[in-house]
Amino acid sequence: MEPLRPILFHPHIPSIEYIEQTILPDAYEVRTARSVSDLAQAIQRLGIRGAPALGCAGACGVALSALLSKAATFPEFLEQIRHDAHVLKNTRPTAVNLFYGIDHVLCTLEHARSIEEAKSKAVDAAQEIIEADRRTCHAIGKTGLSVIPDGARILTHCNAGALACAEWGTALGVIRSAHEAGKKISVFACETRPLLQGARLTTWELMRDGIEVTLITDSMAAVLMRKGEIDLVLVGADRIVSDAVFNKIGTYMHAVCAQAHNIPFYIAAPLSTFDEKSREADITIEERDPDEIRTVRGCITGPKDVPVWNPAFDATPVHLISGIITEYGIFSLPRDSDIIDQIRKGERTGGAVL
Ligand code: MRU
Repeated sequence: MEPLRPILFHPHIPSIEYIEQTILPDAYEVRTARSVSDLAQAIQRLGIRGAPALGCAGACGVALSALLSKAATFPEFLEQIRHDAHVLKNTRPTAVNLFYGIDHVLCTLEHARSIEEAKSKAVDAAQEIIEADRRTCHAIGKTGLSVIPDGARILTHCNAGALACAEWGTALGVIRSAHEAGKKISVFACETRPLLQGARLTTWELMRDGIEVTLITDSMAAVLMRKGEIDLVLVGADRIVSDAVFNKIGTYMHAVCAQAHNIPFYIAAPLSTFDEKSREADITIEERDPDEIRTVRGCITGPKDVPVWNPAFDATPVHLISGIITEYGIFSLPRDSDIIDQIRKGERTGGAVL
């Protein structure tokens, strides 16, 4: 089976090609963003989604802005790109990878000596973010093998798969690597209300790869844990701060249930998802359109004016987490915060990139 690569940058056109995720699994469509505004809209409506994929999209968006620029002077060029970077940053507030991808390419541009040099450096930096994400996800998969026993029944939530990254996935990357290594595993995918990333995307990805998967509603997870039918919970992350992990709404509920039933609860995420200087209280959780709750894929499920609360993410305190599986090893917070700090400093100075 061809690897899923949900985001590709074509600098010579210039454009960004992405798998449209709102219509899967009913339809598989590759769409093209030819402007920063196309890209921003695709991110806002979750055509492109998932923390690492957002990092790639942000990086490509800044490079696209540079390639499309007709500015005559370097200061004018930078001003336009900073404006586009701002537009992209305003699409979704929670996943830190988006900001990381945008700032990384912006910083590269700002250090160029001419517009031409800046364009070429931006393209290289954006392509490298995509390549690095591919390598990183495969490395996370290998790291995670040690926590997946043969025969494991794994519960996952939302979609932390190839569709949420440049390839392979984080939580589903570990599952794919375990399957590839010959472990007999099976997955329970929670549907993930309200936008059904688990039902629509995770099941589709796993079935495509021939990995055993059973779809359940979010409210069925606790019963399965109590019946002894889950060996571990494994999910991705949108932002990891010093005292909590932000991930799709519903993740906290699974973590509390897992602790109550003595089941290991793991996060799989790249170091680019860490925001170790922040605390839970510093982070904005995206609140989305109330109609996402009043309807399910166009069908009405509640009165059209019923008040709704629709946070897209929640925070799981670090004491509920058995380990964070990364490309550098499995960490625990707050115990390993110094080592994570050291690796992050090394990455910023070019000393520790895989
Ligand atoms: O709102 P989404 O679909 O972008 O939310 C995605 C998630 O919460 C994923 O679990 C997370 O980004 C990890 S992706 C490897």
